[in-house]
Amino acid sequence: MKSILITGGAGFVGSSLAIDFKKTYPQTNVICLDNLSRRGSELNLPRLAHHDIKFVHGDVRNSEDLNKIGKVDWLIECSAEPSVHAGYNESPAYLINTNLLGLINCLEYLRQFGGQLVFLSTSRVYPIDPLRKLPLQAEGNRFVLKQPFSQLGTSNQGISELFSLEGHRSLYGATKLCGELLIQEYQKMYGLKAIINRCGVLAGPWQMGKVDQGFMALWVARHFFGGALKYMGFEGKGLQVRDVLHVRDLFNLLQIQMNEDSAFETIFNVGGGLKNSISLFELTEMTQSIVGKKPEIGQDPITREADLPFYVTDNKKVMDKLGWSAEISVMQIVEEIALWLKENQATLKPLFQ
Ligand SMILES: NC(=O)c1ccc[n+]([C@@H]2O[C@H](COP(=O)([O-])OP(=O)(O)OC[C@H]3O[C@@H](n4cnc5c(N)ncnc54)[C@H](O)[C@@H]3O)[C@@H](O)[C@H]2O)c1
Repeated sequence: MKSILITGGAGFVGSSLAIDFKKTYPQTNVICLDNLSRRGSELNLPRLAHHDIKFVHGDVRNSEDLNKIGKVDWLIECSAEPSVHAGYNESPAYLINTNLLGLINCLEYLRQFGGQLVFLSTSRVYPIDPLRKLPLQAEGNRFVLKQPFSQLGTSNQGISELFSLEGHRSLYGATKLCGELLIQEYQKMYGLKAIINRCGVLAGPWQMGKVDQGFMALWVARHFFGGALKYMGFEGKGLQVRDVLHVRDLFNLLQIQMNEDSAFETIFNVGGGLKNSISLFELTEMTQSIVGKKPEIGQDPITREADLPFYVTDNKKVMDKLGWSAEISVMQIVEEIALWLKENQATLKPLFQ
C-alpha cells in the first residue's frame, strides 16, 4: 500500500481516515482531495499538513482534478453531499453531480490508471416506507423493534443486508445505491476491486455537525456552546433510535477489508450495532451527564420526509466473515466529542451556533 487517495479528504470521515492511515503506515503516501464545500472542512487542513498528508484542492465533478494526481494503489471515496435531506425543496443538481457523477469520475480514473476502491455507501439505500412501517413500540425512552420480525432482513439485532430495496429512499440514498450498482458493473466488466460498506451513523471528533447531517456532534456542541436544540418528528419526544459507529472503528474495519480478498465480493452493512444504539432522548441524558449542562430541549412534532424512527445495523455478516465488530461505545464517542469541543472552543464555537 504505497499510496492512498482520499476524495472528500478534508471532511469528517476522509480526514479521520487519512490521519489514522498515515499514523499507522507512515511510509504510505496519503493524498486528500476536497473542494472544501462543507463548512468547517477547512479546519482540517492544518491537521492534514501536520501529519504530512498532501492536500489537493479539487473537485470530483471534474475528472481532470483526479487524473492529474496519477496512479494510486487505493482510492477511498469520501466526497459527498452526505445529507439525506438534500434536494428536498431545492435543486438536486449538486447532490447528483457530486455523489453520482463524481463517483463515475472516480471509477473512470481507476479504470484508466488502475487501483482499488473503498466506497462508503449508506444505510439510506434501504427505502423509507418499509422502514417507517416496521412494528415499533415505545419502551422507556426509545422505540424498540417488536417481534415476530416477520419482514425479511429484520431481527432483534436490527436491519441486515437482506432488507428490501423496493421503494423510494431519498435522492441521497438513490445516488448511493446507483453508485453501488455502477461499482458492481465495473467489478465485472473491468476487474475493479472494490469494497462497499453501507454505513449507519458515523461519529467522532472533527465532525462539523449541522441540523441536517452529523447530529451527534451537533447535539453535544449545542449542549456545550448553547444554541437551539429540539426533538424533531415522531411526536417530538426524542424516541427515535440510531446505532453509532466511531470513525476509528471504521478505520479498523478497513484495515481488515483491504487485506482480505473475500471483502471484495459482497456488500456489508456496517454500524455500531445494537449495543451502540441510542435514542435522542437517551443521548440528551448522556450528553448532559458528560457536559454538565441541562439546556431546554424544544419539541417539533412534524416529521420531515426522510426522517426515520428506527435504524439499527445488524452487523452479523461483517462480524461472521471478517471477525470485526465495533469496540468504541457511544459514551466514549460523546466524551471524545466533548473533549474536542473543549480543546478547540475558540475555533469551533462560531461553527456550531
Ligand atoms: N457521516 C456519516 O454518518 C455517514 C454515514 C454513512 C455514509 N457516509 C458517507 O461517508 C462519506 C463521508 O461523509 P462525511 O460524514 O465525512 O461527510 P463530510 O461532509 O464531512 O465530508 C465530505 C467532504 O466532501 C467534500 N466534497 C463535497 N463535494 C465535493 C466535490 N464535488 N468534490 C470534492 N470534494 C467534495 C466536502 O467539502 C467534505 O469535506 C460520504 O460519502 C457519506 O455519504 C457518512
